[in-house]
Amino acid sequence: MRRRNNKTLRFGTEGLLISYAVGVGTQASIEALYPHKPLAGQTAIVTGANSGIGEGVARHLAVAGANVVVNYVVKPEAAKAIVDDINSSGGSALGIQADVGDEAGVEAMFAQTIEKFGTVDILVANAGLQRDAAFDAMTLEQWEFVMKVNLTGQFLCARAAVREFKRRGMRDVSASLGKIVHMSSVHETIPWGGHVNYASSKGGILQLMKSLAQEVAPQKIRVNSIGPGAIKTPINTAAWSTPEAEASLLKLIPYDRVGSVDDIGKVAVFLASDMSEYITGQTIFVDGGMTLYPGFATGG
Ligand code: BGC
Repeated sequence: MRRRNNKTLRFGTEGLLISYAVGVGTQASIEALYPHKPLAGQTAIVTGANSGIGEGVARHLAVAGANVVVNYVVKPEAAKAIVDDINSSGGSALGIQADVGDEAGVEAMFAQTIEKFGTVDILVANAGLQRDAAFDAMTLEQWEFVMKVNLTGQFLCARAAVREFKRRGMRDVSASLGKIVHMSSVHETIPWGGHVNYASSKGGILQLMKSLAQEVAPQKIRVNSIGPGAIKTPINTAAWSTPEAEASLLKLIPYDRVGSVDDIGKVAVFLASDMSEYITGQTIFVDGGMTLYPGFATGG
């Protein structure tokens, strides 16, 4: 039994149900993707992993063989359910509460990870949020909060990861010293009125990722981004949860379906693994063609 893009809970014969979130495949369907365990012996921190894209990424990395830190700020019970699921299906996970915008909290999270698993090999800087408002109604608080979590949070986590990669030195589990995957968005390039704070934070991630990638490539540290389009998660429920909303959203997606967190999890495993060893400084858009300016298929 498969569960795709909905909230139906099924305990099928093919494996344990592994998610409460939207659109994560079954344990068995994810296991079928990574029989060779490309991340075996490595440790990953995934920020904002108690729901949405972060949850999907954490589950995929775990099935691909990595020890996974499931970072969260709120909803500890959701993080615990994911950690328990991973641990009871042959993986290895640890939940750590930390606000990515808080320097001391990020440092403590890395210290705890290193104490438990020895080091960090992979960072997926995923935690992000929206505080939408018309521009002239946007408060400084809305602007600063989005910047703090989405951009400063990715800086603090990436800095801690680079420091740990360099401290630890090369090991034989990967051809690279370390891998950083930033969770960006199609809105690092597509302007988004009504969401100026969010789009600005993602535009910032583009240059954070590229400049950092350029700086640390000689040390064999790879830094890339995933640019998700519309993925069914709690952050954008309003955009797909009614048939009318979904039909309107699909006009922006040439591939004609809304994305799932599995679409993102698979690319995260690829970017974290040696399959992508020679790729650094790139954003891989996982968006069903949203960045192809679909309006121009019939206009212009
Ligand atoms: C946003 C979603 C939005 C999607 C496509 C994402 O980065 O978080 O709310 O649906 O971009 O516009």
